[in-house]
Amino acid sequence: MIEITGLKLKNPTMLAAGVMGTTGASLLRMTNAGAGAVVTKSIGLEPKSGHSNPSMIDLGYGFINAMGLPNPSYPDFTDEIESVKKNTDTPVIASIFGGDAADFVKVAEGLIDSNPDAFELNVSCPHAQGYGASIGGDACAVEDVTSAVCDVVDIPVWVKLTPNVTDIVTIGQAAQRAGAEAIVAINTVKAMAIDIHSGYPVLGNRFGGLSGKAVKPVALKCVYDLYSALEIPIIGVGGISTWEDAVEMIMAGASAVQIGSAVYDDINVFSNIADGIDEFMNEKGYKNSAQIVGLAHRRN
Ligand code: FUM
Repeated sequence: MIEITGLKLKNPTMLAAGVMGTTGASLLRMTNAGAGAVVTKSIGLEPKSGHSNPSMIDLGYGFINAMGLPNPSYPDFTDEIESVKKNTDTPVIASIFGGDAADFVKVAEGLIDSNPDAFELNVSCPHAQGYGASIGGDACAVEDVTSAVCDVVDIPVWVKLTPNVTDIVTIGQAAQRAGAEAIVAINTVKAMAIDIHSGYPVLGNRFGGLSGKAVKPVALKCVYDLYSALEIPIIGVGGISTWEDAVEMIMAGASAVQIGSAVYDDINVFSNIADGIDEFMNEKGYKNSAQIVGLAHRRN
């Protein structure tokens, strides 16, 4: 059992936003597969169909996606959150996005009655013009959006950051200053692929965001730097597919981890990772994962 921003999780693994998070049924399936918490698909103000296909490429060492934040919009998503909440005690985190603070507030207020346990602000999607990283690249905009949501909700607000910035710590500090209770790091890394036979970019949107194994070292460094500078907990995400990856992320400074791309290979990844962490703790004589959070920051 771990506690993060007041939420009790049976283990430190969570389903990351964007994967298996579009319906209550798929979220529930992830809780049954062992996730300690689940994060919904990012939900916005208006229904959005997303970018044209192809919107996802499997590179073997990771995925590039340019989904473009497709979602049914908040009025049509409340039932999905309610249906998970009715069937499990596992915390459900609503990922939300908007073009400005007013949008975020409207979506948060619209979803609050469905009883999510926390909000995760998506200020980091790298491929949706005017949303996501368009906000998350600017510390003032992150502070503005975060404080606006914190002012109107009484559940924890987490902020998911983009690695596609010069200094992720400055952005994390802005979120912390504005009242965020946790930072989620990282969203995908800007990327593209080109079909050499046609000579065109593969993705309908031409570029997207890289996730999966290839981004783990990038995520680790971001989490490590954020842990050095922030007081609020950090949730590590990016390329975690084994318990060893999760332990590495926790030692960098993460209090919990989110798993996205690895769910495509095996939905049992949550329980496999949670069991592996437990065995590692027992073997090393630690009582729980909290004892190794940030361990890699020791000198000597
Ligand atoms: O398009 C998407 O739904 C992806 C979102 C993200 O990268 O945050």
